[in-house]
Amino acid sequence: MRRNTELLHYAEDPAAWEGAVNPPIYRTSLFCYANYQQMLEVGSDKERHYTYTRAGNPTTHVLEQKIASLEHTDEGMAFGSGMAAITTTLAALLRAGDHMLLINNAYGPVHGFCRNTLARFGVTTELFQPEEGAALSSRLQPNTRLIYLESPGSMTFDIVDLRAVSHLARERGIVTVIDNTWATPLFQNPVDLGIDLVIHTGSKYLGGHSDLVFGLTAGSAQYMAAVRAQAVELGGIISPEDAYLAIRGLRTLPIRMAQHQKAGLQVARWLEQQPLVSQVMYPGLESFPGHALAASQMSGYSGLFSFRLQPRGKEAQQAFVDTLLPLFHLGCSWGGFESLITPAFGLDSSAYRVSIGLEDVEDIIELLDEALKAYASH
Ligand SMILES: Cc1ncc(COP(=O)(O)O)c(C=O)c1O
Repeated sequence: MRRNTELLHYAEDPAAWEGAVNPPIYRTSLFCYANYQQMLEVGSDKERHYTYTRAGNPTTHVLEQKIASLEHTDEGMAFGSGMAAITTTLAALLRAGDHMLLINNAYGPVHGFCRNTLARFGVTTELFQPEEGAALSSRLQPNTRLIYLESPGSMTFDIVDLRAVSHLARERGIVTVIDNTWATPLFQNPVDLGIDLVIHTGSKYLGGHSDLVFGLTAGSAQYMAAVRAQAVELGGIISPEDAYLAIRGLRTLPIRMAQHQKAGLQVARWLEQQPLVSQVMYPGLESFPGHALAASQMSGYSGLFSFRLQPRGKEAQQAFVDTLLPLFHLGCSWGGFESLITPAFGLDSSAYRVSIGLEDVEDIIELLDEALKAYASH
Protein backbone atom coordinates (compact mmCIF):
# COMPACT_ATOMS: atom_id res chain seq x y z
CA MET A 1 0.00 0.00 0.00
CA ARG A 2 1.19 3.55 -0.70
CA ARG A 3 1.20 6.14 2.08
CA ASN A 4 -2.22 7.79 1.63
CA THR A 5 -4.00 4.50 1.09
CA GLU A 6 -2.28 3.11 4.15
CA LEU A 7 -3.38 6.03 6.34
CA LEU A 8 -6.97 5.37 5.38
CA HIS A 9 -7.17 1.60 5.38
CA TYR A 10 -4.31 -0.06 7.20
CA ALA A 11 -5.34 -2.16 10.25
CA GLU A 12 -9.03 -1.43 9.63
CA ASP A 13 -11.53 -4.26 9.34
CA PRO A 14 -15.07 -3.10 8.44
CA ALA A 15 -16.18 -6.73 8.00
CA ALA A 16 -15.49 -7.34 11.69
CA TRP A 17 -17.32 -4.12 12.60
CA GLU A 18 -20.75 -4.81 11.04
CA GLY A 19 -19.60 -2.96 7.90
CA ALA A 20 -18.79 0.27 9.75
CA VAL A 21 -16.16 2.26 7.84
CA ASN A 22 -14.75 3.59 11.10
CA PRO A 23 -13.52 1.51 14.05
CA PRO A 24 -15.97 1.22 16.93
CA ILE A 25 -14.96 2.93 20.16
CA TYR A 26 -14.56 0.11 22.68
CA ARG A 27 -15.56 2.05 25.76
CA THR A 28 -14.79 -0.61 28.31
CA SER A 29 -12.29 -1.10 31.08
CA LEU A 30 -12.74 -4.87 31.16
CA PHE A 31 -12.76 -7.72 28.63
CA CYS A 32 -14.34 -10.93 29.92
CA TYR A 33 -13.49 -14.55 29.20
CA ALA A 34 -15.90 -16.99 27.58
CA ASN A 35 -15.05 -19.72 30.07
CA TYR A 36 -12.48 -20.98 32.57
CA GLN A 37 -10.37 -22.68 29.91
CA GLN A 38 -10.05 -19.48 27.85
CA MET A 39 -8.99 -17.60 30.96
CA LEU A 40 -6.21 -20.13 31.56
CA GLU A 41 -5.08 -19.87 27.92
CA VAL A 42 -4.98 -16.07 28.02
CA GLY A 43 -3.05 -16.24 31.28
CA SER A 44 -0.43 -18.46 29.68
CA ASP A 45 -0.41 -16.22 26.57
CA LYS A 46 -1.53 -18.99 24.18
CA GLU A 47 -4.23 -16.85 22.62
CA ARG A 48 -4.39 -13.11 21.99
CA HIS A 49 -7.26 -11.65 24.00
CA TYR A 50 -7.83 -8.25 25.52
CA THR A 51 -8.04 -8.28 29.31
CA TYR A 52 -8.12 -4.69 30.57
CA THR A 53 -7.89 -1.38 28.69
CA ARG A 54 -4.71 -0.24 30.46
CA ALA A 55 -2.99 -3.24 28.86
CA GLY A 56 -4.65 -2.94 25.44
CA ASN A 57 -7.88 -1.93 23.69
CA PRO A 58 -9.08 -2.78 20.15
CA THR A 59 -9.71 0.87 19.14
CA THR A 60 -6.30 1.89 20.43
CA HIS A 61 -4.74 -1.12 18.71
CA VAL A 62 -5.84 0.18 15.29
CA LEU A 63 -3.92 3.40 15.99
CA GLU A 64 -0.90 1.47 17.28
CA GLN A 65 -0.72 -0.71 14.17
CA LYS A 66 -0.97 2.36 11.95
CA ILE A 67 1.95 4.18 13.59
CA ALA A 68 4.12 1.05 13.47
CA SER A 69 3.44 0.71 9.75
CA LEU A 70 3.89 4.43 9.04
CA GLU A 71 7.25 4.36 10.82
CA HIS A 72 8.38 1.18 8.99
CA THR A 73 8.76 -0.86 12.17
CA ASP A 74 7.17 -3.72 14.11
CA GLU A 75 5.01 -2.31 16.90
CA GLY A 76 3.47 0.87 18.22
CA MET A 77 2.06 1.96 21.55
CA ALA A 78 -0.28 4.90 22.23
CA PHE A 79 -0.16 7.09 25.34
CA GLY A 80 -2.21 9.82 26.99
CA SER A 81 0.35 12.50 26.01
CA GLY A 82 3.65 12.93 24.23
CA MET A 83 5.35 13.27 27.61
CA ALA A 84 3.83 9.93 28.74
CA ALA A 85 5.30 8.31 25.60
CA ILE A 86 8.71 9.87 26.28
CA THR A 87 8.91 9.17 30.01
CA THR A 88 7.56 5.62 29.73
CA THR A 89 9.99 4.79 26.92
CA LEU A 90 12.97 6.16 28.86
CA ALA A 91 11.89 4.41 32.06
CA ALA A 92 11.58 1.13 30.15
CA LEU A 93 15.10 1.30 28.71
CA LEU A 94 17.23 2.83 31.47
CA ARG A 95 18.35 1.52 34.84
CA ALA A 96 20.41 2.77 37.80
CA GLY A 97 24.05 3.33 36.83
CA ASP A 98 23.30 4.12 33.16
CA HIS A 99 24.59 7.17 31.31
CA MET A 100 22.36 8.83 28.75
CA LEU A 101 23.19 11.40 26.06
CA LEU A 102 20.45 14.01 25.59
CA ILE A 103 20.40 16.48 22.72
CA ASN A 104 20.42 19.98 24.17
CA ASN A 105 17.53 21.21 21.98
CA ALA A 106 15.10 18.53 23.25
CA TYR A 107 11.66 19.66 24.41
CA GLY A 108 12.05 21.38 27.82
CA PRO A 109 10.12 18.95 30.06
CA VAL A 110 12.32 16.07 28.77
CA HIS A 111 15.29 17.89 30.32
CA GLY A 112 13.24 18.26 33.51
CA PHE A 113 12.42 14.53 33.60
CA CYS A 114 16.11 13.61 33.21
CA ARG A 115 17.29 16.17 35.77
CA ASN A 116 14.56 15.65 38.35
CA THR A 117 13.34 12.08 38.00
CA LEU A 118 15.89 9.91 36.22
CA ALA A 119 18.68 11.40 38.36
CA ARG A 120 16.79 10.26 41.52
CA PHE A 121 16.84 6.73 40.12
CA GLY A 122 20.58 6.78 39.44
CA VAL A 123 20.67 7.64 35.71
CA THR A 124 23.11 10.38 34.68
CA THR A 125 22.37 12.62 31.71
CA GLU A 126 24.93 14.47 29.58
CA LEU A 127 23.93 17.10 27.02
CA PHE A 128 25.34 17.37 23.50
CA GLN A 129 24.92 19.76 20.56
CA PRO A 130 22.92 18.78 17.45
CA GLU A 131 25.93 19.35 15.18
CA GLU A 132 28.11 16.81 17.04
CA GLY A 133 26.84 13.84 14.99
CA ALA A 134 29.70 11.38 14.41
CA ALA A 135 31.88 13.32 16.88
CA LEU A 136 29.59 12.02 19.61
CA SER A 137 31.87 9.02 20.09
CA SER A 138 34.13 11.18 22.31
CA ARG A 139 31.25 11.45 24.81
CA LEU A 140 30.52 7.74 25.02
CA GLN A 141 31.26 5.96 28.26
CA PRO A 142 31.25 2.21 29.03
CA ASN A 143 27.84 2.69 30.71
CA THR A 144 26.27 4.83 27.95
CA ARG A 145 22.97 3.09 27.34
CA LEU A 146 20.81 5.52 25.33
CA ILE A 147 21.03 8.52 22.98
CA TYR A 148 17.94 10.76 22.89
CA LEU A 149 17.43 12.94 19.81
CA GLU A 150 15.01 15.49 18.44
CA SER A 151 15.56 16.40 14.78
CA PRO A 152 14.58 18.91 13.62
CA GLY A 153 14.41 20.53 17.06
CA SER A 154 11.23 22.47 17.73
CA MET A 155 12.70 25.91 18.51
CA THR A 156 15.82 26.45 16.36
CA PHE A 157 15.18 23.46 14.06
CA ASP A 158 18.75 22.13 14.12
CA ILE A 159 19.26 18.93 12.13
CA VAL A 160 21.14 15.91 13.50
CA ASP A 161 23.01 13.53 11.20
CA LEU A 162 20.83 10.52 12.05
CA ARG A 163 22.82 8.03 9.96
CA ALA A 164 26.08 8.99 11.72
CA VAL A 165 24.58 8.81 15.23
CA SER A 166 22.73 5.53 14.67
CA HIS A 167 25.86 3.99 13.11
CA LEU A 168 28.10 4.71 16.09
CA ALA A 169 25.34 3.70 18.54
CA ARG A 170 24.65 0.36 16.83
CA GLU A 171 28.34 -0.56 16.83
CA ARG A 172 28.31 -0.26 20.62
CA GLY A 173 24.84 -1.64 21.41
CA ILE A 174 23.50 1.76 22.49
CA VAL A 175 19.78 2.36 21.93
CA THR A 176 18.73 5.46 19.97
CA VAL A 177 15.40 7.26 20.52
CA ILE A 178 14.10 10.22 18.49
CA ASP A 179 11.23 12.68 18.88
CA ASN A 180 9.99 12.83 15.26
CA THR A 181 7.07 15.17 15.87
CA TRP A 182 8.16 18.06 13.64
CA ALA A 183 8.56 15.97 10.49
CA THR A 184 5.68 13.52 11.10
CA PRO A 185 6.05 9.98 9.67
CA LEU A 186 5.21 11.43 6.26
CA PHE A 187 8.40 13.49 5.96
CA GLN A 188 10.94 11.45 7.96
CA ASN A 189 11.27 7.76 8.88
CA PRO A 190 14.14 7.52 11.37
CA VAL A 191 14.04 3.68 11.49
CA ASP A 192 15.15 3.69 7.82
CA LEU A 193 18.20 5.71 8.96
CA GLY A 194 19.07 3.19 11.70
CA ILE A 195 17.30 4.77 14.72
CA ASP A 196 15.73 2.23 17.13
CA LEU A 197 12.67 3.95 18.59
CA VAL A 198 10.51 6.79 17.27
CA ILE A 199 8.32 8.98 19.47
CA HIS A 200 5.59 11.44 18.48
CA THR A 201 3.45 13.79 20.38
CA GLY A 202 0.21 13.36 18.47
CA SER A 203 -0.99 16.59 20.08
CA LYS A 204 0.52 18.48 17.07
CA TYR A 205 0.13 17.48 13.39
CA LEU A 206 -1.13 13.91 13.85
CA GLY A 207 -4.22 15.05 15.77
CA GLY A 208 -4.15 18.24 13.72
CA HIS A 209 -7.16 20.06 15.19
CA SER A 210 -5.82 21.34 18.54
CA ASP A 211 -8.41 19.26 20.38
CA LEU A 212 -6.32 16.25 21.39
CA VAL A 213 -3.36 15.39 23.63
CA PHE A 214 -1.73 12.00 22.97
CA GLY A 215 1.61 10.35 22.28
CA LEU A 216 3.04 7.39 20.38
CA THR A 217 6.17 5.24 20.49
CA ALA A 218 7.12 2.81 17.71
CA GLY A 219 10.02 0.38 17.33
CA SER A 220 11.16 -3.22 17.06
CA ALA A 221 9.22 -5.98 18.84
CA GLN A 222 12.10 -6.46 21.27
CA TYR A 223 12.19 -2.84 22.49
CA MET A 224 8.42 -2.43 22.35
CA ALA A 225 7.90 -5.45 24.65
CA ALA A 226 9.84 -3.52 27.32
CA VAL A 227 7.94 -0.28 26.58
CA ARG A 228 4.55 -2.02 26.80
CA ALA A 229 5.44 -3.77 30.06
CA GLN A 230 6.55 -0.41 31.51
CA ALA A 231 3.37 1.27 30.25
CA VAL A 232 1.20 -1.29 32.03
CA GLU A 233 2.97 -0.34 35.27
CA LEU A 234 3.01 3.43 34.76
CA GLY A 235 -0.49 3.52 33.30
CA GLY A 236 -0.28 6.62 31.09
CA ILE A 237 -2.58 5.27 28.37
CA ILE A 238 -4.73 7.03 25.77
CA SER A 239 -8.52 6.70 26.17
CA PRO A 240 -10.35 4.74 23.43
CA GLU A 241 -12.27 7.94 22.53
CA ASP A 242 -9.03 9.85 21.98
CA ALA A 243 -7.57 6.91 20.06
CA TYR A 244 -10.57 7.16 17.73
CA LEU A 245 -10.01 10.92 17.24
CA ALA A 246 -6.32 10.24 16.59
CA ILE A 247 -7.27 7.75 13.84
CA ARG A 248 -9.58 10.39 12.38
CA GLY A 249 -6.74 12.94 12.44
CA LEU A 250 -4.45 10.56 10.54
CA ARG A 251 -6.99 10.24 7.71
CA THR A 252 -6.35 13.84 6.58
CA LEU A 253 -2.66 14.04 7.50
CA PRO A 254 -1.30 13.97 3.89
CA ILE A 255 -3.46 16.82 2.64
CA ARG A 256 -2.86 18.90 5.76
CA MET A 257 0.91 18.35 5.66
CA ALA A 258 1.06 19.22 1.95
CA GLN A 259 -0.61 22.55 2.74
CA HIS A 260 1.47 23.22 5.90
CA GLN A 261 4.60 22.58 3.85
CA LYS A 262 3.54 24.76 0.91
CA ALA A 263 2.38 27.67 3.08
CA GLY A 264 5.30 27.32 5.53
CA LEU A 265 7.83 27.57 2.71
CA GLN A 266 6.02 30.50 1.11
CA VAL A 267 5.86 32.47 4.37
CA ALA A 268 9.48 31.63 5.27
CA ARG A 269 10.69 32.77 1.82
CA TRP A 270 8.69 35.98 2.10
CA LEU A 271 10.00 36.73 5.60
CA GLU A 272 13.56 36.13 4.45
CA GLN A 273 13.21 39.01 2.00
CA GLN A 274 12.02 41.57 4.56
CA PRO A 275 14.70 44.07 5.68
CA LEU A 276 13.46 43.97 9.29
CA VAL A 277 13.90 40.18 9.46
CA SER A 278 17.47 39.26 10.39
CA GLN A 279 17.19 35.44 10.37
CA VAL A 280 14.69 32.72 9.40
CA MET A 281 15.23 29.28 10.96
CA TYR A 282 13.39 26.91 8.62
CA PRO A 283 14.97 23.63 7.41
CA GLY A 284 13.16 23.93 4.05
CA LEU A 285 15.05 27.11 3.10
CA GLU A 286 18.23 26.70 1.03
CA SER A 287 19.84 29.38 3.26
CA PHE A 288 19.30 27.29 6.43
CA PRO A 289 22.65 25.84 7.60
CA GLY A 290 21.25 22.31 8.03
CA HIS A 291 19.29 22.31 4.74
CA ALA A 292 21.51 19.89 2.79
CA LEU A 293 21.53 17.38 5.65
CA ALA A 294 17.76 17.79 6.11
CA ALA A 295 17.19 17.16 2.41
CA SER A 296 19.32 13.98 2.61
CA GLN A 297 17.23 12.40 5.37
CA MET A 298 13.78 14.00 5.05
CA SER A 299 11.26 14.10 2.19
CA GLY A 300 9.43 17.27 3.26
CA TYR A 301 9.06 20.09 5.79
CA SER A 302 6.25 21.04 8.12
CA GLY A 303 4.95 24.51 8.96
CA LEU A 304 6.64 25.38 12.28
CA PHE A 305 9.66 27.71 12.29
CA SER A 306 11.32 30.63 14.04
CA PHE A 307 12.67 33.99 12.92
CA ARG A 308 14.46 36.99 14.41
CA LEU A 309 13.65 40.65 13.84
CA GLN A 310 16.15 43.50 13.95
CA PRO A 311 16.04 44.40 17.66
CA ARG A 312 13.69 47.24 18.62
CA GLY A 313 11.97 48.12 21.90
CA LYS A 314 9.29 46.35 23.91
CA GLU A 315 6.53 48.55 22.44
CA ALA A 316 7.52 47.52 18.91
CA GLN A 317 7.40 43.83 19.92
CA GLN A 318 3.95 44.27 21.43
CA ALA A 319 2.69 46.09 18.32
CA PHE A 320 4.09 43.33 16.08
CA VAL A 321 2.38 40.51 17.97
CA ASP A 322 -0.92 42.30 18.58
CA THR A 323 -1.27 43.30 14.92
CA LEU A 324 -1.20 39.59 14.02
CA LEU A 325 -4.00 38.60 16.37
CA PRO A 326 -7.01 38.94 14.02
CA LEU A 327 -5.74 35.77 12.35
CA PHE A 328 -2.89 34.30 14.41
CA HIS A 329 -3.50 32.92 17.89
CA LEU A 330 -0.98 33.74 20.59
CA GLY A 331 0.03 30.45 22.23
CA CYS A 332 2.68 27.82 22.70
CA SER A 333 1.49 24.65 20.95
CA TRP A 334 1.68 23.97 17.19
CA GLY A 335 0.62 21.66 14.37
CA GLY A 336 -3.10 22.48 14.46
CA PHE A 337 -5.36 23.94 11.78
CA GLU A 338 -4.77 27.48 13.09
CA SER A 339 -1.80 29.81 12.70
CA LEU A 340 0.00 30.56 15.94
CA ILE A 341 2.69 32.95 17.04
CA THR A 342 4.71 32.86 20.24
CA PRO A 343 7.63 35.04 21.29
CA ALA A 344 10.60 32.67 21.58
CA PHE A 345 11.76 34.07 24.92
CA GLY A 346 14.02 31.02 25.36
CA LEU A 347 16.13 32.28 22.41
CA ASP A 348 16.07 36.07 22.82
CA SER A 349 13.60 38.95 22.94
CA SER A 350 13.63 39.54 19.16
CA ALA A 351 12.85 35.89 18.24
CA TYR A 352 9.42 34.49 17.40
CA ARG A 353 8.09 31.06 16.52
CA VAL A 354 5.18 30.62 14.11
CA SER A 355 3.07 27.60 13.30
CA ILE A 356 1.62 28.23 9.85
CA GLY A 357 -1.96 26.94 9.75
CA LEU A 358 -4.39 26.10 6.98
CA GLU A 359 -5.70 29.64 6.33
CA ASP A 360 -5.20 31.25 2.90
CA VAL A 361 -1.50 32.00 2.80
CA GLU A 362 -2.15 35.40 1.17
CA ASP A 363 -4.05 36.44 4.32
CA ILE A 364 -1.17 35.27 6.52
CA ILE A 365 1.43 37.21 4.49
CA GLU A 366 -0.73 40.37 4.30
CA LEU A 367 -1.07 40.42 8.07
CA LEU A 368 2.65 39.76 8.63
CA ASP A 369 3.32 42.71 6.33
CA GLU A 370 1.02 44.92 8.42
CA ALA A 371 2.66 43.67 11.62
CA LEU A 372 6.15 44.48 10.33
CA LYS A 373 4.95 48.01 9.46
CA ALA A 374 3.59 48.35 13.02
CA TYR A 375 6.95 47.11 14.33
CA ALA A 376 8.85 49.65 12.21
CA SER A 377 6.65 52.53 13.40
CA HIS A 378 7.85 52.20 17.04
C1 LIG B 1 8.70 18.48 20.33
C2 LIG B 1 7.75 18.11 21.41
N1 LIG B 1 7.85 16.89 21.96
C3 LIG B 1 7.04 16.49 22.96
C4 LIG B 1 6.05 17.33 23.45
C5 LIG B 1 5.17 16.83 24.55
O1 LIG B 1 3.93 16.42 24.04
P1 LIG B 1 2.56 16.47 24.90
O2 LIG B 1 2.24 17.93 25.08
O3 LIG B 1 1.60 15.73 24.05
O4 LIG B 1 2.86 15.82 26.21
C6 LIG B 1 5.89 18.60 22.89
C7 LIG B 1 4.83 19.50 23.39
O5 LIG B 1 4.72 20.64 23.06
C8 LIG B 1 6.77 19.01 21.86
O6 LIG B 1 6.68 20.22 21.31
